[in-house]
Formats: sequence, structure tokens, C-alpha cells
Amino acid sequence: MALEVRPGPRLAERTTLRLGGHALAEVVLHAPEDAEGLAATLARLGGTPFVVGGGSNILARDGELPLVLVAPRITGQPETLRQRFGGMVRLRVGAGVKLHRFTAWMATQGLAGLANLFGIPGTVGGAIAGNAGAYGGEACAPLARLLVWTPENGVRWIGRDGFAAGYRRFALAGDPQLFLVLAAEFDSDIDEPIDIRRGMIEHVRRKRASQPITAASAGCIFKNPEGTSAGRLLDAAGFRGKRRGGMAFSQVHANFLVNQGGGTAAEAFALIEEAREAVRRTSGHELELEVRVAP
Ligand code: EPU
Repeated sequence: MALEVRPGPRLAERTTLRLGGHALAEVVLHAPEDAEGLAATLARLGGTPFVVGGGSNILARDGELPLVLVAPRITGQPETLRQRFGGMVRLRVGAGVKLHRFTAWMATQGLAGLANLFGIPGTVGGAIAGNAGAYGGEACAPLARLLVWTPENGVRWIGRDGFAAGYRRFALAGDPQLFLVLAAEFDSDIDEPIDIRRGMIEHVRRKRASQPITAASAGCIFKNPEGTSAGRLLDAAGFRGKRRGGMAFSQVHANFLVNQGGGTAAEAFALIEEAREAVRRTSGHELELEVRVAP
């Protein structure tokens, strides 16, 4: 299937926080080859390209947005490529595959490399672009190679020297403004499927006990400052359950901003500013957004 262009989607329908106005258009890729026509299509459409994977780490503004959404919906069955010396297995997956589906499939194959990430929403590509993590695991840690597209260099495979990843941070070498992850190869260690599954169930149990996993949220809204937890700081500053209109910091975990229904981005940003100011005053820490803002 070729590159697909759709008219003005609402960001509220593309993001788990359920916020955001209309974009100018949405460009959907179904295969890596579709990226070949992407630069010309984006030039024709105008506006600012904004990449949306699963939409689970995005805070989008209200109103008419001068954005063209780019959605790499490159799915299909993940595959193992080869067994390597030392028991590592190389596997390949499309960027549009849901992380949940991918990690569940890995467990059935006895591949343990991303088990700690089970329960994180979104796509494999989005998890890489934000270096998503939980319980000591990070999406980029077992990465071997990436198939990426940039307007400058088109489609190409890059190795680990082609990108830098840190805590909730990912950048391609040269830090291009716009890039797409199209597919990824991971080197995973192996374990018994039953043990991997047991670990995953335990992670979900811990998540369910400490995070509002069924609420409309974008996960943690702020990054943890070095050596401390943003949730704890927000809680201590009185922000657990703090509400403005339809938006509120969760009662379950103070670093989750939740849309309780009918919330607006204006309310979200007002709460965010209020929280940053209060945490600055009470602890001296400067909170940095973890979610990506759709401008
Ligand atoms: N805490 C409070 N009040 C709160 C929330 C937390 O006192 O309202 C305390 C907890 O009791 C605990 C400490 O703060 O002692 C840390 O809390 P938690 O274990 O929930 O971990 P976190 O640092 O808040 C991080 C990640 C999560 C990830 C979990 C588990 C960030 C910003 N958050 O949360 O990631 O799932 O660890 O590994 O790094 C995300 O990135 O969106 C996210 C949810």
C-alpha cells in the first residue's frame, strides 16, 4: 500500500490523554518503502510534521494546529533472524507494532529482552523515540539496529553508533529535527517462557497498584529529577488529586495527569505550570516535561 494522506484528524482521537485540536492532515506509512515519497508529500502539504506512534506520550494543544501528523503504521508479524553465540537472539519488528503485542509475543518465544516494558502502552517506534522504560528496563538497551528515515538521508539502517539514548531521551546522530523509526532489530537474551510471563504479570500487578493504568493519561507527565521521584515531590507539594476543570493529577499517582472527561489542554498546561512552581518553591527541583508537546 502506498503513502496515505487523510484530512485533518483530531489529536484528541490520536492521543491517550484525549486532548488536542485538529491537525491539517495525517500521512500514514504502511511499509518502509512508503517513506520514499514522504519528503515530497510533506512539502506539498505544508505545516510542521509531527510524528505520532501510539499517541500515549503526547500532550497536544487545543484549537486548529498547524501540524501534519506522520504515522508509521508499519506492522506485521515480528520475526527472529538468527541465534547468536552466547544465547542472544536477533529479532526484527515494524515500528507500528504495539509494544504490548511485541513483548507478549517475545515471551512466547522465550525472549526476555524487553519483559520489563510489558504493560507500557504505545508502539515499538514510539517506545524507542522516547526510550520508554519501567522497572530497570529501557526500550533502547537491547537495540541492535534501526531502520530510520530522515529528510536529509532518506531510509537507512543505523547501528548503535548512529543514535544516543539516555533516561527518557533518544536522538539520532546529528540530531535531525525530523526523523522516523520504521523498524527495529533487538538482540534479546533468552529465558523460559513461563519465567518471563511470571515476571510480566508481577510488573503489571505493581503497575496496577501504583499507577492509574485505565485512566486517560499520557503516563508520567514529568521526568524524575536525578535522585528523586517527581511523583513524590508533587505529592508532597499537595498535587495528588489536584484538579482544574476536567484535568487532574491522579489520586493514585501524583505524576499522572488525567483527563477525567471534557478536559482541555489549557487546563492541563495551567495545572502543569502551577505544579512546577509549587515543586520549585517546596523542593528547589525544576520539573521537566516527559511527555512530548504537540505545538
Ligand atoms: N510516590 C509518592 N506519591 C506519589 C507517587 C509516588 O510518594 O503520588 C513515591 C512512591 O511511594 C515511591 C516513589 O515515589 O516511593 C517512586 O514511585 P514509583 O515507584 O511509582 O515510581 P516513579 O519514579 O514515580 C517511574 C517511572 C514510571 C515507571 C515506574 C516503574 C518516570 C517519570 N516514571 O515512576 O514510568 O513505570 O518508575 O519503573 O520515570 C512513564 O515514564 O510514563 C512512567 C509511568
